[in-house]
Amino acid sequence: VKEALAGTAGSQSLVGSEVTVKGWVRTRRDSAALSFVHVSDGSCFAPIQVVATDALPNYETEAKRLSAGCAVIATGTLVASQGKGQSYEIQATGLEVVGWVEDPETYPIQPKAHSLEFLREVAHLRPRTNLFGAVTRIRHCLAQAIHRFFHENGFYWVNTPIISTSDAEGAGQMFRISTLDMMNLPRTEAGGIDFSKDFFGKEAFLTVSGQLNVEGYCLALSKVYTFGPTFRAENSHTTRHLAEFWMIEPEIAFADLAADAALAEQFLKYLFRAVLSERADDMAFIAERVQKDAITRMEAFVNAPFERIEYTEAVRLLQASKQKFDFPVEWGLDLQTEHERWLTETHVGRPVVVTNYPEHIKSFYMRLNDDGRTVAAMDVLAPGIGEIIGGSQREERLDVLDARIAKFGLDPAHYQWYRDFRRYGTVPHAGFGLGFERLVVYVCGLSNIRDAIPFPRAPGSAEF
Ligand code: 4AD
Ligand code: MG
Repeated sequence: VKEALAGTAGSQSLVGSEVTVKGWVRTRRDSAALSFVHVSDGSCFAPIQVVATDALPNYETEAKRLSAGCAVIATGTLVASQGKGQSYEIQATGLEVVGWVEDPETYPIQPKAHSLEFLREVAHLRPRTNLFGAVTRIRHCLAQAIHRFFHENGFYWVNTPIISTSDAEGAGQMFRISTLDMMNLPRTEAGGIDFSKDFFGKEAFLTVSGQLNVEGYCLALSKVYTFGPTFRAENSHTTRHLAEFWMIEPEIAFADLAADAALAEQFLKYLFRAVLSERADDMAFIAERVQKDAITRMEAFVNAPFERIEYTEAVRLLQASKQKFDFPVEWGLDLQTEHERWLTETHVGRPVVVTNYPEHIKSFYMRLNDDGRTVAAMDVLAPGIGEIIGGSQREERLDVLDARIAKFGLDPAHYQWYRDFRRYGTVPHAGFGLGFERLVVYVCGLSNIRDAIPFPRAPGSAEF
């Protein structure tokens, strides 16, 4: 049935065979003495059309009462369809209703276009829509391609901890973990829950990045990566930030920033090629309903060499441009999304890797350049989104690292284990982080990152 739905080669030979589809009703349309019921099992974009006639014993009593969301098992013969919109359909010989929809009028997922805002309020039911089905399958395809890319290129996947004691980004935006006995909640004097109880006698947080841990594995296995959930307590209500998001962080030994940028380019192109070839059905829907140029811009991305621009040069270009920006452009200030988008969309028209940022706006672990005022950092900027990847060559010199930990006001006690990597067989190494949901947003042409993850966690949304 799946082959017939996808219309792939070989489906012709299935015509005439007995098939069963188990899924959920999308729509029902009645004609004289027969009904067309569209059933989706979510395995691919298209639902299958089930033709139910009054020859079915339960045609009047059940088939004609089916509404969106009902669970059914349809059995019948696969035939070439005379109707428009599908090549095949099932001539039903049996139609079992497994689960009714209690109250069809108030069922939230009606067969019509819903606003994304509304669907966020019913995030537990939104996978039943065309859009969220497509996003989910594309997200899966990307995740598979990520693991495949690294596996094919000799990287090992390392699972880094979610509970952490160090602030891996040195940015101070972490969620604290407390130990609570739920049956006997500790109370403060005011009567509220006492969250001051820590993690078995130590302060602990949800990790913001697995990088520091994976660096240790890199300095033993040479090519490694993480792929897991990370958490940031930034109270930002933007369309680009989540409190809980997934991140992919490769780390390579005996490598500098140029090697890191080359890896990022090869990696992103591999992922886009995978989606274009494996999820053509979902991408066709995205291009039709969400973003017109979704496919063409990915093809362009795959075929264009990334541009490389140093931060200092980027600032000069932005200052020389005729564009009016909301935020100031000045050497020493971080680039804002509007600046990033001007660089990648207007100035170059291709993805851009911006390198060598001022040391004070980037993280403590980045390698200090010889000029003493920039670090070997990079951001990969993509047309239509801005920063998608952030990475750097790491500071492998112990004395310079110590000076930077002190300069950033971080507690050296938290980083003793990290310092060991510089004490025992240190080598130049580099890596980057790709925000998984930023990638899904980009590929699916979404305008809000809360639609790129099944259950978004952001200020004001954690109810599911
Ligand atoms: O630039 P960031 O903070 O870099 C790191 O965490 C490094 N440890 C990465 C590394 O070198 N191994 O984050 C990396 C990426 C960003 O480019 C962005 O795509 C994503 O993570 N990201 C977020 N995505 C969703 N919501 C947030 N709040 C995000 N913050 C960062
Ligand atoms: Mg960044």
